[in-house]
Amino acid sequence: MQNINEYSLEDIGTGIYGPVSLSSKHYPFGKYENLLNDRFIPTSMYTWYKSTHEKSKRVADLARNPQILEIVKKFIGKDVILWGSHFIHQKPRGAHSWHADVEHMNWDGVTVWVGLKNLSPDSSLSIMSYSHEFNFSPPLYLDKITQEELNRNILEAAKVLNSKCEIKTFNLKVGEFIVWSGKAWHTTRNESNQIRHSIILQYCRPNAHVRIPLTYEYPHTKWSTVIAPCLSIDGLNFNNKNLLIINEKTSFINEIIRIIFVIQGRLIEIIKKYISI
Ligand SMILES: [Fe+2]
Repeated sequence: MQNINEYSLEDIGTGIYGPVSLSSKHYPFGKYENLLNDRFIPTSMYTWYKSTHEKSKRVADLARNPQILEIVKKFIGKDVILWGSHFIHQKPRGAHSWHADVEHMNWDGVTVWVGLKNLSPDSSLSIMSYSHEFNFSPPLYLDKITQEELNRNILEAAKVLNSKCEIKTFNLKVGEFIVWSGKAWHTTRNESNQIRHSIILQYCRPNAHVRIPLTYEYPHTKWSTVIAPCLSIDGLNFNNKNLLIINEKTSFINEIIRIIFVIQGRLIEIIKKYISI
């Protein structure tokens, strides 16, 4: 396993780009906390859990960050929509095992992972280089094996398909982001004793057929008949098959509702902290 701090433009071929620090020019200090407040907007207010851009103007703004978009366009070209956005709160000593996102196994796209709070050398994100070229998910190992053994097995399986595959492991800092080609195999771990907060933004070209999965098997995924709201980001919306939110607006009422949820969420966090002391 290799720890990487910097990549160059040529590495887009590996399916991975980054990590990159969000410039304070486009994302001033203090905005991370403001953005994270929107995690308290209940998912029941969204069409589905990967649709936070539907109600959060802050998430929509981040999705249009020019620094992020510049890299997204290197992967998928200049015509871009956002189909998914989701806050991830990974528990202490929690892990999300090796997988490929079922949505991107069904349509091409790109994922951006942004570190928001409590990132440390004890929290990592690993991506298999060149695995975006495969058209299937990593094998499942149900036996109880160590993380090292699991990584060895997954790498072995990947190398059968492309000998250039390597596991790239990143320990991002707050305000850094990493981009990977949608089909790439990835896993995250949080060995620290704090909840690690991040957000993923998922983009595709406007002609992709975006759907909401009901099951997570590939290729036999079952899909909802509910239409996923996507966000218009940049370029032409050619051959668009998706429901597009073009000018999302934050009304006064929505802002009041948001503030109530943020206050409620903060209070619950404080009470939980107080009880656990
Ligand atoms: Fe994932």
